[in-house]
Amino acid sequence: MNLLARSDALDLLDHVPPHSAQLAYLDPPFCVGAQFGARTRGSGWRAQGPMAYDDRWASLDAYLDWLAPRLAAVRECLSPEGTMWLHLDHRAIHEAKLVCDRVFGRRMQLGEVVWTPGNGARGARRGPAVTHQTLLLYAAGRDPVWNARDRALREPFADTSLAMHFTQVDARGRRYRSRSIAGRTYRYYADDGRAIGSVWTDCPAMTANTPLRREATGYPTQKPLKLLDRIVRASSAEGALVVDPFCGSGTTLVAAAAVGRRFAGSDVGELAIETSAARLEAEGVRFELRLCSPACQPPAKRASTRSS
Ligand SMILES: C[S@@+](CC[C@H](N)C(=O)[O-])C[C@H]1O[C@@H](n2cnc3c(N)ncnc32)[C@H](O)[C@@H]1O
Repeated sequence: MNLLARSDALDLLDHVPPHSAQLAYLDPPFCVGAQFGARTRGSGWRAQGPMAYDDRWASLDAYLDWLAPRLAAVRECLSPEGTMWLHLDHRAIHEAKLVCDRVFGRRMQLGEVVWTPGNGARGARRGPAVTHQTLLLYAAGRDPVWNARDRALREPFADTSLAMHFTQVDARGRRYRSRSIAGRTYRYYADDGRAIGSVWTDCPAMTANTPLRREATGYPTQKPLKLLDRIVRASSAEGALVVDPFCGSGTTLVAAAAVGRRFAGSDVGELAIETSAARLEAEGVRFELRLCSPACQPPAKRASTRSS
């Protein structure tokens, strides 16, 4: 059963059995030092709507101290084939990598993806403007899922390469090239395309942030469905459980359901849960909604709930 819970990421294991998830995508606050309001149509699609979440911290260390136990909870819920994707930007990614190394083990890092939202360059007064965000991938065990042949992880060969090398045609009319490597001959088909690399420029953030597009909810920092579709397809099999403990507007959950994965999404924010729930309902996705997490109650009540 799919699940949407109003819950602190710290309490993920209250909702997800240990070692059960194949993919965890984490898009937490980035340590920006600001509060984020929702965009509403009545306000000209500016961020003047209700407060979505607070991304202000006493210091970078305070932020990392907050992040570390939540990464550890995610690590516990991943199966041996599981992968964690942590999405941040220049403000905390380097220090967060060291935290990930501690929680997952340095050798468990599978790589990183540089994603360019395509919003243009701003604030370049003291150095190059930052036009990318970074996603770190860590394996939970020895056998992480990586669906290299999925179409979402392929791109067309360059025109010059097609013209120069893909000159043969098989009995079914498919263009291919042959290459001999260490005494063996391999055949590469033009319509299979080539593997995409680690710099992703083809998932514009604008699709999630303009009222002109159906997928935009007005939730701040909403990520594009195309980005999450690729991540879900890359690191999970059909029927597997996908977890997003900072689900915001529910992008991961919608992307997972669309390709036959189960999901468990949670967020501490009321607006996030409302937005995710409305979005999933609009897509006709069935899910269980849990609203009464101890994490979302006032601290005094939370302490007594925990000790009971
Ligand atoms: C960058 S946004 C996620 C956006 C989301 N990926 C999307 O596409 O809409 C970060 C989210 O983390 C949530 N958050 C902040 N602190 C949290 C916590 N302790 N536990 C769970 N969620 C939290 C915020 O409410 C916010 O929705």
